[in-house]
Amino acid sequence: MQCSQSVLSEDEALPCYVRLMRREDIAQVNEIDREAFPTLWPPANYQHELQSRLAHYIVAYEEGKTVDEPEVEAPPEKGFSRLVSRVRRLFNHDRFFDSELPASDRQYITGFAGFWFMADEAHITNIAVRERHRRQGIGELLLISIIDLATELKARIITLEVRASNITAQSLYRRYGFSQVGLRRGYYSDNREDGVLMATEDISSASFQSCLNQLKEAHSRKWGITLYQVAR
Ligand SMILES: CC(C)(COP(=O)(O)OP(=O)(O)OC[C@H]1O[C@@H](n2cnc3c(N)ncnc32)[C@H](O)[C@@H]1OP(=O)(O)O)[C@@H](O)C(=O)NCCC(=O)NCCS
Repeated sequence: MQCSQSVLSEDEALPCYVRLMRREDIAQVNEIDREAFPTLWPPANYQHELQSRLAHYIVAYEEGKTVDEPEVEAPPEKGFSRLVSRVRRLFNHDRFFDSELPASDRQYITGFAGFWFMADEAHITNIAVRERHRRQGIGELLLISIIDLATELKARIITLEVRASNITAQSLYRRYGFSQVGLRRGYYSDNREDGVLMATEDISSASFQSCLNQLKEAHSRKWGITLYQVAR
């Protein structure tokens, strides 16, 4: 893992925390998922994921803000994502997967991420941030939290698959020590795009953990976060 330099600034503290995903988060997680991966069909089933013993999901949320507070209007949906939303509405998807908690009691979710843990490998399935909250350090916070959880579970490596065109995500992963270990040609069925397989070195190694600590410190100075802990 290579340590990268950050240009640090005295920005306001990021009002963002991370905890394990709960059932009541699913409606918002579905919204974020559809915004981030509009062409993925069938959409991920987070209800099912939460019941799996292999799966570990987390959310980033804003302290003190709930879902019924006024939002910036979402951009109009187009093409395939519009079709997906219509099908979801037709089957009343969110009624099935939403929790009983009223909106006023539900924390406002800004992003989520998850991985499957098998043998000694944590495979990241998803990481996504609401469009209007991107470039605010939340994606990085989620990735740090995933690495911390995987370390706690004694995973040896972390792997993931990313679209060849997704340079944004790849640059985040590379910063955190992921490198390309394979290529799946035409892997994505919607546009036959290649899938890039990425993996870390041994995450328990002293060199990886030392770089991770430096990256955390840089992230902390930039976004004012003082505690990196996934609340249960
Ligand atoms: C990838 C994603 C999760 C990043 O979330 P984010 O909250 O915007 O990321 P951060 O603000 O924490 O940025 C962390 C780093 O990622 C990289 N990055 C993020 N957005 C970028 C962009 N638009 N262009 C280039 N690099 C970018 C940068 O290295 C950035 O660090 P910097 O701000 O110090 O330059 C977000 O863009 C997203 O949800 N995308 C859609 C879903 C997706 O593609 N997920 C990955 C599937 S494998």
